[in-house]
Amino acid sequence: MVISYTLLSPIHSPYPKAMESPIQNSAMFFFLLSLLCFMIFLFQLSRKLSSYPPGPKGLPIIGNMSMMAQLTHRGLAQLAKHYGGLLHLKIGLLNMVVVSTPDVAREVLLPQDSVFSNRSSSTAIKYLSYDGADMAFANYGPFWRQMRKICVIKLFSRRRLESWVSVRDEINTMLALSLTSHIIYKAAFGSNSHEGEEGQIENILQEFSRLFVEFNIADFIPWLGWIHPKEFKKRLVNARRELDVFIDKVIDEHLAKKSNKNSKDENEAAVTDMVDELISFLDEGAHENKFTDSLSTDVMFGGTETVATTIEWAMAELMKNPKELKKVQEELSNVVGLYHRVQDFNLENLMYLKCTLKETLRLHPPIPVLPHKTAKDAVLAGYSIPVGWHVVINVWAIGRDETVWDEPNAFKPSRFLEQSAKDFKGNDFEFIPFGSGRRSCPGMQLGFYALEMSVAELVHCFTWELREGMKSSELDMSDSFGLTAPKAVPLVAMPSYRLKY
Ligand code: HEM
Repeated sequence: MVISYTLLSPIHSPYPKAMESPIQNSAMFFFLLSLLCFMIFLFQLSRKLSSYPPGPKGLPIIGNMSMMAQLTHRGLAQLAKHYGGLLHLKIGLLNMVVVSTPDVAREVLLPQDSVFSNRSSSTAIKYLSYDGADMAFANYGPFWRQMRKICVIKLFSRRRLESWVSVRDEINTMLALSLTSHIIYKAAFGSNSHEGEEGQIENILQEFSRLFVEFNIADFIPWLGWIHPKEFKKRLVNARRELDVFIDKVIDEHLAKKSNKNSKDENEAAVTDMVDELISFLDEGAHENKFTDSLSTDVMFGGTETVATTIEWAMAELMKNPKELKKVQEELSNVVGLYHRVQDFNLENLMYLKCTLKETLRLHPPIPVLPHKTAKDAVLAGYSIPVGWHVVINVWAIGRDETVWDEPNAFKPSRFLEQSAKDFKGNDFEFIPFGSGRRSCPGMQLGFYALEMSVAELVHCFTWELREGMKSSELDMSDSFGLTAPKAVPLVAMPSYRLKY
């Protein structure tokens, strides 16, 4: 064959060495072209033959990066309709699988829980959590186990409920629904906030939530890390600094309160909050330590942003569905009576309220997608999922799965009255707003109690109306996407006192 001969035997070429013959040039071109075609063929063949889950076709190197804007809980649910309950996305060098059905979620969170219990992280998460120095973002292992023990025993125990009870005292003094942030602030930090501080902490936490999911090229193609937009870095530094200043102030106030109490009588020292517990556990010098800051972030983020978001959604759904609001108010009138405020012991008889909150968590799970990661190679639903792959469980999609839920997008609290109704404790994978398995929410009991108490009081003490002239059907129910999914447009509602004393 002439071409191969020419390629293999340059000595016999009639052309000077420096000058390539046209035949040699075209041979080289042909060779490179064939090589390229062969590589593309191999790439596609390997995708076809690979045992990875199906997913949208991507381009070499950038993969599915052009779809980034679509990768919210809603966009991923749409993709799952096409590719199924387990789909694969390649974003730059990062591999991600998305779980969108109860069956696959069960496999991830029950039999293979330990394999899928690492946390996925990003530049933002690493920076904001002091490189996973907290519980929520630490990988599964001895450090996480120790943190979890402290939190479950010391911080989120039933005993903590008392600091949520003090929430009730705020209700009379507040008018509009900025109340939620006030409630949460008081519940988590015990003391009354100084003017405007709840708003400040809410803004900081919402900025954290947005930064956690902000697009940053270095997370997908690390060798392009130098393209770090300055603005993004600046936002990270500012958010962490603002939270540190806030936490230091809260801790200092608690330390001062503690030394005051030590010199006063015993009764005053009775009510402690989570920060008090954290301090006494970590000893007084601990507030210098980043460890305290990280754990405080967990308490604040896990315990405030999630609860505040859900209270707002519950109130919005009730305003959007006045018949449901009426049912909850009737139950409160019957169980509690219009001459009393809601008490702890009333909660067990407020069944419709419980159903309303469960329905809110089904439609609006405050953490819509759970960020997990494989700790070793795994096989899931027959597909291989290598170590280090990000595994996202779309709780939002699972809660609206039409094969499980009748009229999945409708707000129907009564569905939870049925005998066979699903519960959120982690055994029914059709309904997992608190997750399930070893990484599930350690504050579940506390969080649900806070929801019950807050919404019960809001609905019992007040009649609520929308802004003048606004119909309930006009209420904007769109959500925004971050680590949490709050209402995109804050709810504004006007209360008038309802009780008869
Ligand atoms: C409506 C209330 C709440 C909801 C719906 C909720 C939901 C969740 C979810 C879905 C997770 C992640 C589970 C997973 O990745 O598999 C989580 C984790 C966590 N939650 Fe909650 N939560 C709530 C309230 C609270 C409260 C009150 C606290 C503490 C005061 C708290 C502290 C935490 C912490 C520290 C984690 C991380 C656990 C870990 O990674 O091991 N949460 N929560």
